[in-house]
Amino acid sequence: MDKLLISGGTPLSGDLRVSGAKNAALPILAGALLSEGAVTIGNVPHLHDITTTMELLGRMGVHLVVDEKLNIEVDASTIKSFYAPYEMVKTMRASILVLGPLVARFGRAEVSLPGGCAIGTRPVNLHLQGLAAMGADISVRNGYIHATAKRLKGCRLVLDQITVTGTENLMMAAALAEGTTIIENAAREPEVVDLADFLNEMGAKVYGAGTDILEIEGVQALSGKGLHYNILPDRIESGTYLVAAAMTGGRIRLKNTRPDLLDAVLIKLREAGAHIDCGENWIELDMRGQRPKSVSLRTAPYPAFPTDMQAQFTAMNCIAEGTATITETVFENRFMHVQEMQRMGANIKLESNTAIVTGVSRLTGAPVMATDLRASASLVLAGLVAEGQTIVERIYHIDRGYECIEEKLSQLGAEIKRIPS
Ligand code: UD1
Repeated sequence: MDKLLISGGTPLSGDLRVSGAKNAALPILAGALLSEGAVTIGNVPHLHDITTTMELLGRMGVHLVVDEKLNIEVDASTIKSFYAPYEMVKTMRASILVLGPLVARFGRAEVSLPGGCAIGTRPVNLHLQGLAAMGADISVRNGYIHATAKRLKGCRLVLDQITVTGTENLMMAAALAEGTTIIENAAREPEVVDLADFLNEMGAKVYGAGTDILEIEGVQALSGKGLHYNILPDRIESGTYLVAAAMTGGRIRLKNTRPDLLDAVLIKLREAGAHIDCGENWIELDMRGQRPKSVSLRTAPYPAFPTDMQAQFTAMNCIAEGTATITETVFENRFMHVQEMQRMGANIKLESNTAIVTGVSRLTGAPVMATDLRASASLVLAGLVAEGQTIVERIYHIDRGYECIEEKLSQLGAEIKRIPS
């Protein structure tokens, strides 16, 4: 397995182009299953999770054409199988996103249950309850979800808990259902809005995306024939590089990003002492060589502080001035990075779902590894400020969600290289 070797201590400096959002590309690729004509998706990030999704769709018989700029043309008219096997779903939980479109358009699906993951139990009960309320016949046998339906029927759904992929699955199912579906307590994440925009471009009638009540008037058919839809920029990738620059006392300018989607993160970076300027599609952060001040935060669904940025801010607090608390409310076990940071000399106490971090003046390099995507990225950030060498192992987690992380960081002056296995 590849590793990253990092020599810490260089302030990041320079310009960086942000990639398309993984968490929008995954539901939109699944949403292409709903289209009667071939649809093209652009600004797709070059990531393992995208390759996995393409393999999943390809195995179903969906015809995919990829050009050199990673525009992906998806034609679901050749579909032959409605099956998502365990060996694919276990490597990428977001595979569950094919469930709603398959049942809505083809009337059947057999999708492996995702099971637990490193950051918590992560059930999909709300996806299944919602589809059942729309009239799907659902059973779970031998670890697989079996779903069938003639035509789904619109209904009113009140989600017990805010769920991003759950909202997306149900929105896609409702787009082809008979009648109107109301989803209350829906996720408001920008990626949910991007999916709604994509579906609407194909003729769907989704209203209220970005609020907590979605109204979806079902239509007979959707067609993305001739449509070229560009995925929105990745707000988590943007946030990760901003934190990296802040931690190293550097100055960077992000291009092709969306500052309006990062309010909660930018507020916290300013609180940490960063000077931030923004335009419509760029963000500039300058730490003027200063050490960051520690910031307390609490994760929650959008528009509050994203759980996907929690590990990176934990890393920043490790070397910041002062003590701060970080409370995780979305996933029950998302502090796997803490023990590894302690091995690098961090002063962190864990009390239930809160990490109390007192900044130290220096971390020290060490071999480390993490068990999920954002935790792995946070260890890279810690390595950028640590004295000596840090080796981050199991970086296949990072490759799932960050496009060419070592190239992008090198471009900003970091001393980082990939050691192939
Ligand atoms: C998505 C993101 C992930 C992000 C997370 C929270 C994608 C592909 N992934 O994951 O990067 O960290 O949102 O912002 O977009 N829950 C239930 N029952 C369900 C569904 C969820 O209890 O049926 C719970 C989960 O266990 C969790 C909470 O709801 O505690 C939020 O999870 P959810 O929003 O569903 O996360 P994902 O959609 O899997």
